[in-house]
Amino acid sequence: MSRKFYITTPIYYVNARPHIGHAYTTLACDTIARRQRLLGAETFFLTGTDEHGQKIERAAQAAGKTPQQYADEISAEFRQLWKRMGISNDDFIRTTEDRHKKRVQELFRKIRDNGFIYKGTYTGQYCVSDELYVDGAQPGDPCPTCGRITETVHEENYFFKLSAFQDKLLALYANPEFIRPEARRNEVISFVRSGLRDLSISRSTFSWGIPVPDDPKHVIYVWLDALANYITAIGYGSSHAGAQEAFKKFWPADVQMIGKEIVRFHCVYWPAFLMAAGLPMPKAIVAHGWLLFEESKMSKSRGNIVRTETILDVLGSDALRYFLLREVVFGQDGSFSFDALVQRYNSDLANGLGNLASRTLTMINRYFKGEIPYPSHAASKTVADDAIAEVARKTIREFGTLFDQFQFSRALEVAWALVAAVDKYIVENEPWALGEKQDEDSRSRLATVLYTAAEALRIATALAHPVMPDATAKIWSQIGLGDIKKLALSELAWGQLRLGTKLGEIQPVFPRADKSAIERMQKMEEEQRTTPVADAAVTAATPPAANALQSATVSPSAVPAANDKISIDDFSKIELRVGMVKVAERVPKADKLLRLEIDIGTEVRQVLAGIAEAYSPETLVGRKVVIVANLAPRKLRGMESNGMIVAASLEGGKPVLAGFLEDVPVGARLK
Ligand code: MSP
Repeated sequence: MSRKFYITTPIYYVNARPHIGHAYTTLACDTIARRQRLLGAETFFLTGTDEHGQKIERAAQAAGKTPQQYADEISAEFRQLWKRMGISNDDFIRTTEDRHKKRVQELFRKIRDNGFIYKGTYTGQYCVSDELYVDGAQPGDPCPTCGRITETVHEENYFFKLSAFQDKLLALYANPEFIRPEARRNEVISFVRSGLRDLSISRSTFSWGIPVPDDPKHVIYVWLDALANYITAIGYGSSHAGAQEAFKKFWPADVQMIGKEIVRFHCVYWPAFLMAAGLPMPKAIVAHGWLLFEESKMSKSRGNIVRTETILDVLGSDALRYFLLREVVFGQDGSFSFDALVQRYNSDLANGLGNLASRTLTMINRYFKGEIPYPSHAASKTVADDAIAEVARKTIREFGTLFDQFQFSRALEVAWALVAAVDKYIVENEPWALGEKQDEDSRSRLATVLYTAAEALRIATALAHPVMPDATAKIWSQIGLGDIKKLALSELAWGQLRLGTKLGEIQPVFPRADKSAIERMQKMEEEQRTTPVADAAVTAATPPAANALQSATVSPSAVPAANDKISIDDFSKIELRVGMVKVAERVPKADKLLRLEIDIGTEVRQVLAGIAEAYSPETLVGRKVVIVANLAPRKLRGMESNGMIVAASLEGGKPVLAGFLEDVPVGARLK
């Protein structure tokens, strides 16, 4: 019976369009899944989208859409992007699908029937962005994970008896393979040792979620809903025999890959939910670091994302796949830059593997009529040939070990050391000079040198296939080996390339990229981030805003011409409110911009304001301001701005913020 292998990515929130930070998790899993298939395992690779919760509900509202419409659009973007990137997932689960909803309710029921759910009242702070209860925080405190102001929640909820699992979880972590890398494991152990409080697992103040079975006033906490995808997708909770079989076959998962910021959910809550339902534990939870851009985590709220499409358009998917896995030391944070991307592309792909393929195959074409030659007698061999064979054998062994320990960059380094060794070997053995001679010894030596080069090329190509599926498939067929998907990786060994194999048509696989590639990509991203500045009198103080309550927005067509008078009805459409600045900070690489978090009574809004030259961030915290609360969504530098601050615009564009002489309550409406 064949070995099975089940691997999962986290499911992606649909409040943000995919960027290369998301792509990193997905493609790390994709390469593992592809390698496992080549090793003969019956592999199931799952990814999907996380579509419920308050965060998504609000994002949809801001975009003037229903949560379902909004989720449909962004979920589709993820699917299209994964297709373009050659992601080989076997299923794509959406948490708004019926199959998921029903099965999550089954899980809830099971945990409740097992006695681990009770009703209680929760009063405390909640971070909507992380969908996280922040224990011990006071009203107005920031979320310890993302720094955004938490919101006070007072609700009757269902609670999960997390506290009952402290010892069982600690016993689980005794297995060093369960949480990787070690540093994350230690963090989790000390978190759990410090004591676990029961967890609120339902919400009743909004409705965008899966109803609690038998009590539909409540929706299931979005993290319980989301985590369950790993089992609902493969059939848990289904009454169909086929689905039950699949669940039995694939659960527990072999690898659950996550980013480091969601370790607590996956290493504490998830195993506790599974224990409460009487289900087996996944074999390994593996956490990677972050992709940084402009020195901080690439994320929508920071406005420093790089879109995957830009890189795909200019360099193609394999270049991005190789770069991310080669450049980032798995488990640690890694910086992304267009310069480094192009440099790596040129050195390792265009001049490295690509050049080895084209020079070796071109010479076989020229000197051996496009058929793989073979050394005709032992005398034509030297120690240099054996040395390459030895490096290749060692590469096969080490690559596998490193890769299976998730050390992708080291594994690729080892494979590219083979490419470099063969390059050196070609230079030292000068096949082009041998090719000019007609004597038998020279012909025989030439055959040996080109065979050795082609065989090393075959091995490097086979190993790199899970990382760069397209380019390696092309090289494979240029060597004349047919469909690379038929490769049995576990049998890969030196000396399998057969005499007389006919080469396919030779074409360059990685054309060199020049400086203009960098400029092109930077320009594409810059255009994406910058949107024209608003045209009202308040412009100087108000960068383009996004994420406003669009449903209540004055549509552009309703705005009268400049000299027209407006009616009181027109004016009343503009919602001006008193807000208090809770957080103010500069936006990296934007001299004029400040990022503000403003409490407007009903909620805390992120607003971007072009006032950094007139106000330093410290002077603004605690200050009351006037904000246009129902402005249409806009974006600046890719960041959301949810409203607009009102200011007088002095000569030269200097903004002066509107304020009040008397004290006014936060949230008061200006009429
Ligand atoms: N929806 C939750 C996960 C629920 S799983 C039951 C979530 N979604 S997310 O869209 O915010 O993140 C999904 C994955 O993308 C995470 O593994 C996260 O670490 C990864 N990344 C998002 N930005 C990233 C970087 N800048 N760098 C690397 N990975 C990052 O969390």
